[in-house]
Amino acid sequence: MEYKAIRGTRDIAGELATYFNYLEEQARKIFAGYGYSELRTPIFESSSVFLRSLGETTDIVAKEMYMFEDKGGRSLALRPEGTAPIVRAALENNLIEPNIDTRVFYQGAMFRYDRPQAGRYRQFYQIGAEVFGNKNPLLDFEIIKIANDIIINMGITDAVLHINSVGCRECRPAYLKVLAAFLNNLQTDELCPTCNKRKDTNILRVFDCKIDTCKKVLQAAPRVLDHVCGSCSTDFLKLKEYLNKQKISFIVDEMLVRGLDYYTGTVFEILTDKLGAQAALAAGGRYDNLVQELGGKKAIPAFGFALGEDRVVELLKPLNLPLVKKPLIFLLTTDIAKHNEQIFNNFDLIEELRAKGVVVTYNSTGKSIKSQLRTANNLGAYKSVFIEPDGSFSVKDMITGHQQKIVKSEILQAIPAIYVKKE
Ligand code: HAM
Repeated sequence: MEYKAIRGTRDIAGELATYFNYLEEQARKIFAGYGYSELRTPIFESSSVFLRSLGETTDIVAKEMYMFEDKGGRSLALRPEGTAPIVRAALENNLIEPNIDTRVFYQGAMFRYDRPQAGRYRQFYQIGAEVFGNKNPLLDFEIIKIANDIIINMGITDAVLHINSVGCRECRPAYLKVLAAFLNNLQTDELCPTCNKRKDTNILRVFDCKIDTCKKVLQAAPRVLDHVCGSCSTDFLKLKEYLNKQKISFIVDEMLVRGLDYYTGTVFEILTDKLGAQAALAAGGRYDNLVQELGGKKAIPAFGFALGEDRVVELLKPLNLPLVKKPLIFLLTTDIAKHNEQIFNNFDLIEELRAKGVVVTYNSTGKSIKSQLRTANNLGAYKSVFIEPDGSFSVKDMITGHQQKIVKSEILQAIPAIYVKKE
């Protein structure tokens, strides 16, 4: 029987794992600079956390959730996104209050049963942040700036920020009526069957249709931005002003509506043209009603984003990042029968080297010198240290091939300073 990773999932190893780690490390540094602290939530939650918050007619809830019953008969779901669990956790742990900013970030695996393709996985990784407490465009700006900082910091300078407002409880209902009137005036065959259904279920989502005929018809549709209330409009104007002041370029994308129902007011996506259809590297927006919808006693406004790590990492490959690779020393013993003994006799040296920031490793099966050297080469060792049968040492420079005898006390000094801790 052959065992394989499940379709839409993958193993992350070698260079790919290094890129993921690099991205996560850099993001953590950026979050720290803005005063965000980590909130880790479980990978699964009661299904109702998502059913309640994302919207029953959204693709994620209707088609993509990994839902199952546990042995106790509870309906659970693997998290398809991070915001709803963060709100659940923030409420459960009393982390949020109105008018006091609470800043949290998260990183981890998310799960969606969508059709796998380049840049789209069934298990994928997000880095995200949420800020709770106030309806202030300064926070909209802060989150967008963080998402932008992370992407720029990775060397990706050509992604484009799209922003829009989807209106709030006050103004959206009236707009949806105007949109419905426009759509109902069309002939049924002017829209695809899915959009015809959306008219009755989740009307705003017609703007997400990828079918050309729908896209064309929707060019003439009324835009939400022309129908938002004074408050949404002022906040959106302020956000644009802040972005301009900070020289963050953006496009007002009146068709941007996002695929989750909890948004109110400003929404955004940061898009690349390098990944085909899966263009969004990061996305988010304001959600001022979700806290109360998930059981909060008071409405606490919030704004957040999530970045798709898999997609960002895909763009990192050709960028030659300044990854710090610690120097690696490979230990070889020339007396195979005494392999373990000789390694253990020199554990003091091994520990000293490791404390200096050097990687020290060896092969645990006493193979021939030739084969041990091959392993050293494959691992990218820059020096190999031979432990001779009489306990003496020699060091081989793996780059020049030069080998010389050395006394134990000098091995530590033999590591050129440039190799030690560049971080
Ligand atoms: P989202 O747009 O569903 O928003 O996902 C955010 C990002 O996750 C996307 O822009 C994309 O980069 C990545 N992503 C989504 N699905 C996949 C997939 N199947 N494979 C690979 N990457 C994927 C949210 O999840 C919201 N929770 C964002 C948010 C936070 N809004 C407010 N706070």
